[in-house]
Order: sequence, then C-alpha cells, then structure tokens
Amino acid sequence: MGSAPYRSLLPLLLSPLSLLPVVCGDCGPLPSLSRAEPPEDIRHKNSFPVGSKVTYRCLQNLSKIPSRLDTIMCLNNSLWSNLQEFCDHSCQSPPQVAFAKLSKEDEMKNFYAVGITVSYDCSPGYENSTAELPTSTCRENSTWSEVPELCHKQSCGPPTNPEHGTVVATDHLYLARAKVVCNEGYTLSSRVSFILCFTQGNGVAWTPLPTCQVSPSVTGTTAVANSTPHLEKKASENHYILPLVLIPCITGAAVIVAWSIKKCSASKKTG
Ligand SMILES: *[C@@H]1O[C@H](CO)[C@@H](O)[C@H](O)[C@H]1NC(C)=O
Ligand SMILES: *[C@@H]1O[C@H](CO)[C@@H](O)[C@H](O)[C@H]1NC(C)=O
Ligand SMILES: *[C@@H]1O[C@H](CO)[C@@H](O)[C@H](O)[C@H]1NC(C)=O
Ligand SMILES: *[C@@H]1O[C@H](CO)[C@@H](O)[C@H](O)[C@H]1NC(C)=O
Repeated sequence: MGSAPYRSLLPLLLSPLSLLPVVCGDCGPLPSLSRAEPPEDIRHKNSFPVGSKVTYRCLQNLSKIPSRLDTIMCLNNSLWSNLQEFCDHSCQSPPQVAFAKLSKEDEMKNFYAVGITVSYDCSPGYENSTAELPTSTCRENSTWSEVPELCHKQSCGPPTNPEHGTVVATDHLYLARAKVVCNEGYTLSSRVSFILCFTQGNGVAWTPLPTCQVSPSVTGTTAVANSTPHLEKKASENHYILPLVLIPCITGAAVIVAWSIKKCSASKKTG
C-alpha cells in the first residue's frame, strides 16, 4: 500500500536527469528527411549527445546512391550535420539478352537512377546491321525499357558437302546445326554426325566437317548404311552393336539359305 506514492514520484525524480544531456551539448530530435528515415528503435528519441551518429535508410522503392553519405552526426555546436539527398528512384541491374551484352562502361555501374540509359554491344555470333546499337532506359516506374533486337545472328553461309556425302542444312545462322549424311556405301569417320555454326575469331564458321569413308564391309553395305545413324549413339556407349548386327545377318542368311533350298527343290521338280 505504501509503495504507490513512490511510484508516481519516480518519473518526477528522473525527468531532470533525462534533460541533463540537453544542457551539456545535445542535438535533440532527429531531423526528418523527405526520402529517408532513421532506424525504428531511435526514431522517437529526443536526446542525442555530441558525437552521435545515425544512419538513415531510404524509403520504400528508393535506393541509396552509392557515392552519397547516409549518416548524420551530432556536431559539437549541438547541431546535426547536413545531409545531401542520397535516395533516388532506380532500377535493378539492366536486362540481359542473348543477342547483346551490356557495355563495359555500364556494367561497372552499381546504381541505375531513373532516366539513365545503358548501351549494349552485340554478343559474339551476332552483328549490328545498322550503326544503331541496342539501349535500355530506366523508366519512372523503376523498370527497364525493352532492349530492341538490333543485333542479328551472323551467317556461316551454306556448308560445303563432304566428299561422298551431303550436309542437310535448313539454317545457316549462328547456332544452327546441320546433319552430315554419307552416300550409300560410306560411313562417317567420327561419331559426330552434325556440324554447328559457331563463333570463330570475330565471326562465325561451321565446326570441322566429318569425312565419309568407305564402309568396312562391302557386302552388308545397304544394311549397315541404313542402320548406322540409329545405332551409332548406342554403339559408342554400349558394346552390343556386334550381336545387334550379327543376329539380323544370321537370320537373313538363314532365310536366304531356306529360300534357296526351297527354290532348288522346286526347280528340281520342274526340271
Ligand atoms: C512501391 O512500388 C510498388 C510497385 O511499383 C507500388 O505498388 C507501391 O505503391 C510503391 N510504394 C511506395 C511507397 O511508393
Ligand atoms: C568543434 O569541431 C570543430 C571541427 O569539427 C573544431 O574545429 C572545433 O575546435 C570544435 N569545437 C569544440 C568546442 O570542441
Ligand atoms: C556496328 O557497330 C559498330 C560499333 O558501334 C560500328 O563501328 C559499325 O559501323 C556498325 N555496323 C554497321 C553495319 O553499321
Ligand atoms: C512501367 O511503365 C511502362 C511505360 O512507361 C509500362 O509499359 C510498363 O508496363 C510499366 N511497368 C510496370 C511494372 O508498371
């Protein structure tokens, strides 16, 4: 019961103490900035001694300009230091596109303010058909404008056919793949049955052309040539190509033998 009067007395006793720092060098409440706010926990504090430092944070949708200060200090004249506007509307990293890459100069930037325009160079394998190069601008709503597709795939030109074969190409542009098909009786010298239009130096060129070589067995020519493209991949990974080729051969031979026996007996009958 007797503690109640003391409790109400306590704030009265403490209030002069809380006013004390103001007397001997204090900057008072934090200044309010239009685009930034101080940390939540000290936002409503009324007293900051000389030497106090407070770091502000940009308001929602605004970002800190890297070169600017974001910390104020209570100076020895009991005034807060001044702060230049350090928050601005900005965009995230510029958009990435396959046909072009951000210029070195713009790539090094770490802040893209609203209104800034970045430029691109054509990616390897692409070229500009006009003097105009792609650009993008950081718009008012913090989004980048679309990067116009001003770089086009370079062409490798029509591929040359290998000796005893043909290249089946529908597209001659960068990253196009063309199938190499050998004439009957010939097989590819390598497992790679495609050529690719790829970067070479400053331009593009077809990857080395595989050659077509005479098939190892002349007798089974047609059968081997037809089955090769399908079995080729499996053959490189597995070792069951031999049974796969032999079984149809043996079966074929058996059929031929059976057929000739039948024919022989038939001709015997007629003869
Ligand atoms: C921040 O941006 C979002 C999306 O653009 C928007 O909905 C929101 O109102 C903005 N907030 C402020 C405080 O401007
Ligand atoms: C206040 O600070 C300034 C520099 O920041 C210094 O030149 C000056 O001597 C200081 N005054 C006092 C009273 O400490
Ligand atoms: C492509 O861009 C480069 C670099 O800006 C320029 O030198 C060249 O003339 C352009 N090509 C064409 C065809 O305009
Ligand atoms: C941003 O503004 C552009 C035009 O100013 C508009 O086309 C686009 O849809 C806007 N994006 C968003 C996310 O508001």
